Amino acid sequence: MGKKIFSGVQPTGNLHLGNYLGAIKNFVELNNDNENDCIFCVVDLHAITINQDPKELRNNIRETVATFIASGIDAEKSIIFNQSQVSAHSEAAWILSCTARMGWLNRMTQFKEKAGKDKEKASIGLYSYPVLMAADILLYDSTHVPVGDDQKQHLELCRDIAQKFNNDFNVNDFFKIPEPLIQKEFSRIMSLKDGLKKMSKSELSDLSRINLTDEKDQIINKIKKAKTDPLPMPSNIDELEKRPEAKNLIGIYSSLTGLKLEKIIKDFSGKNFSEFKENLSQALVDKINPISVEIKKLLNEKNYLDKILSEGCKKANDIASRKIKKIHEIVGF
Ligand code: TYM
Repeated sequence: MGKKIFSGVQPTGNLHLGNYLGAIKNFVELNNDNENDCIFCVVDLHAITINQDPKELRNNIRETVATFIASGIDAEKSIIFNQSQVSAHSEAAWILSCTARMGWLNRMTQFKEKAGKDKEKASIGLYSYPVLMAADILLYDSTHVPVGDDQKQHLELCRDIAQKFNNDFNVNDFFKIPEPLIQKEFSRIMSLKDGLKKMSKSELSDLSRINLTDEKDQIINKIKKAKTDPLPMPSNIDELEKRPEAKNLIGIYSSLTGLKLEKIIKDFSGKNFSEFKENLSQALVDKINPISVEIKKLLNEKNYLDKILSEGCKKANDIASRKIKKIHEIVGF
């Protein structure tokens, strides 16, 4: 039986290799399977949990759609929309925030990381953001949610919320309990400057990530400057555990080319990093450059991007408004 796929990406600019290898590449594969129903959401309500410039946000929403299409998602075969345009998301998030427990949210590591030391100054939205994410998923009876490893804890929370709601209101199976789809290997792409830190849009140094809009020369330069350790290329897999930068670069190469780790290690064992880096740059340029060219082309076709969103919103609204109506009945409104 086909899967009901739902996933979201924040339109906060600088979509990068981590977003691509951790999530968007999987969206494309799932979307290519005609058995699946896929919904891909540009989560603009999530984006405003930290300050956004309104003009930039508007552009970034379109750029996220352009990235989906440029990466190979077929807009005819999936629903692509932005979250703010389907009001059921905000409504369901409120209702589910009355189901979710403070204790559960207090455990969310991403909030702790994002809020940093100054927790008191973080927005309430940043704190309750995983509840909105649960609303996104549950409104569509989603069965599978493709995400990178960093979203795993949020998906567990979503499952807990769904189960508690079903129990509290004695509506067994009303919310479907979604399965995360996280790649077995390299589901967390790390910064090019620190193999222990996640590659992220918010990292100050642009050299820490490959953006999906980077030009060929930028990619080559960033890989050249990517941090490594002083040893030559590893000669067995066990070495990788103690060599996070080597592990990350080899992982990226493996994800891009489909080559097994063992084979890569065998081919480059004991060689200089520079030789490996040339191959890695080439693989990146081959994969990212066509996407980057297409994104830039699509950004000039605003009407086309807006049409994808408006059609997607209609379809998403059809599904979500029916579900929120049932939620109203269940809670007694
Ligand atoms: P966001 O916008 O931060 O990231 C989008 C997707 O990219 C993945 N990702 C990574 N994967 C591997 N390595 C990395 N360094 C890396 N950085 C990001 C993320 O895991 C994600 O899959 N809360 C979500 C968006 C969201 C959502 C949802 C996802 C909102 N509602 C419902 C699924 C279902 C987020 O902020 O992702």
